[in-house]
Amino acid sequence: MSNKVPSSYSDYLGLHGLLDSLSMTSAVHDEHLFIITHQAYELWFKQILFEIDSVRDVFRAPLLDESKTLLIVNRLNRVVLILKLLVDQINILETMTPLDFLEFRTGLATASGFQSLQFRLFENKMGVKEDHRVKYNQQHYIRVFNDPKSIAQLKDSIDSPSLLTLVERWLERTPGLNEDDGFNFWDIFQQVVKRWQDDSYLYPAQTEDDEDIKESHLADYHKSRETFESLFDVEKYNSQRERGERRLSHLAFQGALLISLYREEPRFNQPFQILTLLMDIDSLITKWRYNHVLMVQRMIGSKVGTGGSSGYQYLRATISDRYKVFLDLFNLSTYIIPRAYIPPMTNRMKRRLSVLSTEDLLKMKQRNGSKSDLINGVRDRLSLNEDDGEDEEEKKTGPVKFEI
Ligand code: HEM
Repeated sequence: MSNKVPSSYSDYLGLHGLLDSLSMTSAVHDEHLFIITHQAYELWFKQILFEIDSVRDVFRAPLLDESKTLLIVNRLNRVVLILKLLVDQINILETMTPLDFLEFRTGLATASGFQSLQFRLFENKMGVKEDHRVKYNQQHYIRVFNDPKSIAQLKDSIDSPSLLTLVERWLERTPGLNEDDGFNFWDIFQQVVKRWQDDSYLYPAQTEDDEDIKESHLADYHKSRETFESLFDVEKYNSQRERGERRLSHLAFQGALLISLYREEPRFNQPFQILTLLMDIDSLITKWRYNHVLMVQRMIGSKVGTGGSSGYQYLRATISDRYKVFLDLFNLSTYIIPRAYIPPMTNRMKRRLSVLSTEDLLKMKQRNGSKSDLINGVRDRLSLNEDDGEDEEEKKTGPVKFEI
């Protein structure tokens, strides 16, 4: 960061260097658009990386209070809006015809978007797994980079915790997952799923006279049991994870499900927005890949790419779930059950969810040093005393109410 006072608009924005960096290899009019489009992409990639790095830094904190989650929501939303712009930007380049492109394409020599360092950094920092990538001419993409600085940046982006890893750790800490939290979501969820399956398929089958309909209900019942079994049986879950069909740990997945089902609870509003934005980012990158591949087919058909790949064929293979970092969040919907079966949060759990941040507590303590009753009030909200979190009613009936 320099403290130099800029002498003008152009000086402040470094426009001399920026605008002079456009150098055409031909006199073909459309090459100007081709270069500007790529440069604009790279500038926006730089901004995206800046945002993702800052979000990763915030996630690294061992505890996230609501002021921090709001910051994450704002920044991820910004990334989403930039990506929307990047998806749309392809339309502008498509005003160039294949014939115009062919006129200057030889001038590109072996240059290709495949060599975009920032694009690879973005993928790695999000959490694209190395062994999920489509091999490019049977080679690792890192081979196209030969300057030590780029290689060091790429290695660091692979080695440092990706957004996926950090989100996973955060989800594993979702309040409500343990009995200690006074809720024990996982046990409750398994019980209500069973009840929903019985009501939807088993009981209708048992009371049905028509053999075909009975069979059909039973088939649905077993299918649904099997689907949920892959979630409830940790071993099955983990073997799917090893095969790359799931990305998040079992505990993190439970956290994501809890947040999705209870998103109307104030404490889960922002976490739910975060999960939605992460899916938006994945969706928009997939849309970009799709629009890019359509443009490539339109421009070069099945010709090989300037970077040496099979071109269209290679790119088409990259539009798959392999590149979806937050795949599990999309799959959450498989396990969503009707609202009527989702038991309400216990009062104790609600109180736990409304805890103040440690920072807030310290500030209040400083401001009201001698007012011990205020501190006790806060202590009360935090349920710091062993017993005071539980309602009399809850004590009688147990923490979980299944009335639907
Ligand atoms: C006429 C326009 C374009 C054509 C014909 C084109 C063609 C290609 C081809 C054939 C590839 C595969 C690698 C290769 O063999 O070269 C590729 C990859 C790539 N291109 Fe483009 N491209 C165009 C525009 C753009 C633009 C505007 C961007 C924006 C930055 C871009 C970014 C990329 C990236 C990031 C890859 C690597 C994708 C991956 O490996 O998953 N391309 N492009």
